[in-house]
Amino acid sequence: MTLGTIRVRLTFWYLLVFVPLLIAFSTYVYSQLAGDLRGQFDTALLRLGESAANYFKVLAQTKGPSSAAETIVQELRSAEPIPALRVRNVTLAVFSGDQLLAISNHDATYSISSSQVLLSLRTGMQNVFATDEVAQRRLVAIPVRFGSENYTIVALETIQRLQANLRFARNLILFGIPATVFCAAIGGLLISKKSLEPVVTICGQAERISAHNLNERLAIKNPKDELGHLAGVFNALLSRLDDSFRIMREFMAEASHELRTPLAIIHGEADVSLSQVRSDSEYRESLDIIRDQSKRMTRIVSDMLALARADAGRQLIHLEELYLNDLLEECCHALKKVAASKNVRLEIDSPEDCPFLGDEELLKRMIVNLLDNAIRYTEPGGYVVIRLTSDASGVKISVSDTGIGIASSDFERIFQRFHRIDASTYADQCSGLGLAIVKMACEAHHGSVTVSSQPGRGSIFTISLPHQEPRGSQRTLSSSPIS
Ligand SMILES: Nc1ncnc2c1ncn2[C@@H]1O[C@H](COP(=O)(O)OP(=O)(O)OP(=O)(O)O)[C@@H](O)[C@H]1O
Ligand SMILES: [Mg+2]
Repeated sequence: MTLGTIRVRLTFWYLLVFVPLLIAFSTYVYSQLAGDLRGQFDTALLRLGESAANYFKVLAQTKGPSSAAETIVQELRSAEPIPALRVRNVTLAVFSGDQLLAISNHDATYSISSSQVLLSLRTGMQNVFATDEVAQRRLVAIPVRFGSENYTIVALETIQRLQANLRFARNLILFGIPATVFCAAIGGLLISKKSLEPVVTICGQAERISAHNLNERLAIKNPKDELGHLAGVFNALLSRLDDSFRIMREFMAEASHELRTPLAIIHGEADVSLSQVRSDSEYRESLDIIRDQSKRMTRIVSDMLALARADAGRQLIHLEELYLNDLLEECCHALKKVAASKNVRLEIDSPEDCPFLGDEELLKRMIVNLLDNAIRYTEPGGYVVIRLTSDASGVKISVSDTGIGIASSDFERIFQRFHRIDASTYADQCSGLGLAIVKMACEAHHGSVTVSSQPGRGSIFTISLPHQEPRGSQRTLSSSPIS
């Protein structure tokens, strides 16, 4: 989805909330205004009618009801009516029962008869309001008791002005709503554009970043707001990617370097053998060298493959029931000759039966690598002991030797790929992948490996493996990131 559509969608959602609120608010304001104006109109009309009724009562006492009615009507028609009747467009009518005594404007007679206010007054003595929608008049009928007779004063006023005012307010709202919505939509688009501007900037910067300039970072204007946080997260991701790329490049460089030595030896040996006719023993010697170097290459490539698969999470580990004590014995047996040839004593200390659920091949590789190191880095006359202990939580395998030892500053680095403390001494025999494989195998079994050592006195590598859940026999191995 492009930023343009996000902008439109944001504006759309904003209008979806805003428009109903605007309509509801306008309707409320209009109904309040209309109610208020109508109320004021009625109050004024009633006040006028009551003044006329009082005036009628006073006059009726001196002049009699008929002439009082005439007088009031005349008063309204006069150029200078009494202040209480000084309202333009008002009609007054006086009735005695149903009989009209006087009316200031005969056009209004129909409005009075059609509203049937006189009929309503027969049932009670309250004021009655009515509206003649056709003639646009509002009227109030006020009952007046004089002597034994019932009289009614009717005050009528045209509502055209009131209707015009209300129409004006209605039109104002009806035209105002679309105009406001239009302005709000434009404003919404502008606001969303402004708010999304940093995202556009981030996108532009991110587009320029590739594998070649992974060290570049997004500029963060305000790290405390949401977009600043997003840019920060993205930068952290870039840092991790940068690290991974760097480590991968180093890994490739180291791998090529490691493979170059045996390849050069094989090449050189073949060249020398082919340069002239050699004796059988010389050919045999050359072939021996070539075989050893290709074995070494095979080991490096298979170690690299195992680590690369683990990195990609594609290495499957096959969990199976096995006896760790048997596995340890097999490994010791495989390295017995190597140890004997170096005059290093190899001992095993393990309980009788130690069942474990694990990947046999991976565990073997792990133990052989540790024993191989212990024998290789131990001087003739020394000894190597492999010990196995087990409890309810898991198993511990420790390989101790009386070898050259490792400085504590190297404890972490020796588990890194291709890291060798003194590469020159054993350069032809080792590649520096052994302990990386050990670490990967431990992690595959949810375990860990630790080292303790004293230079010149020996080292102890301890592997702790928890008992595995016997759920599936096969699962994907995931290792920690390349290190
Ligand atoms: N038991 C040990 N005693 C002394 N140093 C050791 C011991 N085990 C490992 N090291 C040091 O740790 C380094 C890394 O060991 P690792 O097994 O990863 O590689 P390597 O033995 O050099 O090569 P590889 O095992 O791939 O043939 C070794 O080069 C060595 O310097
Ligand atoms: Mg090794």
